[in-house]
Amino acid sequence: MKSLNINGLIPKIPLIQGGMSVGISLDNLASAVANEGAIGIIGTAGIGLLDDNHVKNVKEANMEGLKKVIRKAREKTKGIIGVNIMTVLTDYKELVTTAIKEEIDLIISGAGLPLNLPSFLEETSKTKLVPIVSSLKAAQIIFKKWWNNYKYIPDAFVLEGPKAGGHLGYKKENLNKKEYQLEATLPQLVDFTEEIKKNYGKEVPVIAAGGIDTPEKVRQMFSLGASGIQVGTPFIATKECDADIKFKEALINAKEEDIVIIESPVGLPGRAIKNKFIEEVEAGIRKPFICNFHCIKTCNVFDAPYCIAQALLNAAKGNLDEGFVFTGQYGYKINKISTVKDVINYLFQEI
Ligand SMILES: Cc1cc2nc3c(=O)[nH]c(=O)nc-3n(C[C@H](O)[C@H](O)[C@H](O)COP(=O)(O)O)c2cc1C
Repeated sequence: MKSLNINGLIPKIPLIQGGMSVGISLDNLASAVANEGAIGIIGTAGIGLLDDNHVKNVKEANMEGLKKVIRKAREKTKGIIGVNIMTVLTDYKELVTTAIKEEIDLIISGAGLPLNLPSFLEETSKTKLVPIVSSLKAAQIIFKKWWNNYKYIPDAFVLEGPKAGGHLGYKKENLNKKEYQLEATLPQLVDFTEEIKKNYGKEVPVIAAGGIDTPEKVRQMFSLGASGIQVGTPFIATKECDADIKFKEALINAKEEDIVIIESPVGLPGRAIKNKFIEEVEAGIRKPFICNFHCIKTCNVFDAPYCIAQALLNAAKGNLDEGFVFTGQYGYKINKISTVKDVINYLFQEI
């Protein structure tokens, strides 16, 4: 097994906990993962909405929320902590700048191509930049842009396959096709990073994500050339996860047939646990909302049948009548609350 080295960040365990917004991976989960020697990631979308008492405008609340959560995580661990910032967020630039000022160890950024991410680094910044991609082509575009415009080479790539949870970077009709699965795309991206190493002298690890929930799959990813894995769903049903217990129980109670693909107002497919809220939306029932902060660039506020940020926030707080739970494809296999330590020990038991 290769060791994971993200331009000098070397976790003891080559695992990144996938950033989970809104309110699922905050300081508690991220620090618990970091304390186990892996990399903990704070999900930043809607981070200011979690404070019920926020009176400021949402953008200011998000920046304050982000600072607060990073600082709380730092109090709980000396391990590696990063943030996940989706490029589709309207306050992307401010979130990135705030995280860099807080000296976050790494920024993981997907849901679109983070083409200008290096422009926010300052000369003294130590923050590493890791794009999430769903194909070799996306990685090549990012590499070319970053090199031409900033002479910056990504510090790693997360390659997220179609079995992941949350928003997915694939068309719905491609989700089950063989050529889009990690087994097919991972070796292609690994070859590309080997070319980068040969031509530019920089090691760019590839971290595989999406549906990696057994020791066998972990081993398979490493044998296909991954230097690390990113795991989301298995950490939801842990004691340390920041979501309400009802959110965790919804995952524990889900059956295979409950895990469905939805069309999110963000304009991407998403994988979620079917419930009454999702059924009603699918039946054409609109969930009226007031949008006082256009949080997602691609959200058409006037056509959206519901507010995704509000729905995810409601779910994170345990109000599943007015929201729903995002999950990876194999979320139905989880049937009890465990701990971060248990999840990591299980996944790496063979290695
Ligand atoms: C509840 C939930 C929320 C998520 N939120 C985000 C997010 O805010 N940004 C992002 O890039 N990925 C997000 N993801 C994807 C995860 O970070 C991770 O890459 C993915 O879930 C890996 O697949 P797995 O869940 O099968 O392990 C989310 C996933 C879940 C299940």
